[in-house]
Amino acid sequence: MTLYGVGLGPGDAGLVTVRGREVLQEAEVVYSPGRLSRSVATEHVPGERIGDLDFPMTRDEEELREAWREAAAAIAPSARDGTVAFVTLGDPNVYSTFGHLRRTLEAFHPDVDLEVVPGVSALTAFATALGVEVAAGSSIALREGARGAAPTGPDRMVLFKVTDAPATHEGLTEAGYEVTFGRRLFMEQGETLVTDDPAEIDERDYYTLAYAERPEARVEQATDAFVEATSGETVADGGVATEERAVAEGCGDEWPGVTGR
Ligand SMILES: C[S@@+](CC[C@H](N)C(=O)[O-])C[C@H]1O[C@@H](n2cnc3c(N)ncnc32)[C@H](O)[C@@H]1O
Repeated sequence: MTLYGVGLGPGDAGLVTVRGREVLQEAEVVYSPGRLSRSVATEHVPGERIGDLDFPMTRDEEELREAWREAAAAIAPSARDGTVAFVTLGDPNVYSTFGHLRRTLEAFHPDVDLEVVPGVSALTAFATALGVEVAAGSSIALREGARGAAPTGPDRMVLFKVTDAPATHEGLTEAGYEVTFGRRLFMEQGETLVTDDPAEIDERDYYTLAYAERPEARVEQATDAFVEATSGETVADGGVATEERAVAEGCGDEWPGVTGR
């Protein structure tokens, strides 16, 4: 049968996809690698169907490999006989523990069928939580900001694993970025915090990301004309930049055309 890697989204049980919920409800066992993923999963399946997996907090690669070999050996028999799920916060294929499980199963239990149900990743959910628009024509990069790291280069970056917000903030602002931090976005119990002030989040919390943008990198949009109009400037005569139309089509968006606008 099948082991499903199910993305649970950023933390709010309401952001699990319909497909993800269906799989969780069909699964005989739902394996969870942590307390937070467990708390989201238990909103959709009874606690007695959740199988907890423990992983050592270590950077020792041999110890980690051993833990994954053990986890894969525990999961493989039930995945061969039935339908089981392994849950991760966000998306299973973005910076996720599911990658370790997939590689270990492929190496030691290649007869187990795997399927992935994508989830809402913090990589995209951050935009709504922080009130940011990544408009057509923009480019954006994913980087890590652990231990005060402040990578530079791209116009826009999402930094995962921010552990020393003041140091990361200092490095990025010196390089000309505007920085906003998001902590425990979409997580329940009112834990979410969005701030430009690194002093507000100087205590370490694993579920912290940063968004950094060069202010001069904003890409003009055809509909900016409406905002200019409401602020007293004249709207251009209904024309829409050909370049923007090409970008919309390039992104797979259906271009509404001029008719009826
Ligand atoms: C190992 S990655 C997991 C990413 C996850 N698979 C996803 O697709 O969102 C963990 C990092 O993602 C970021 N992250 C994930 N969920 C978050 C949330 N709800 N709020 C803020 N940051 C989050 C944090 O930077 C955290 O250190």
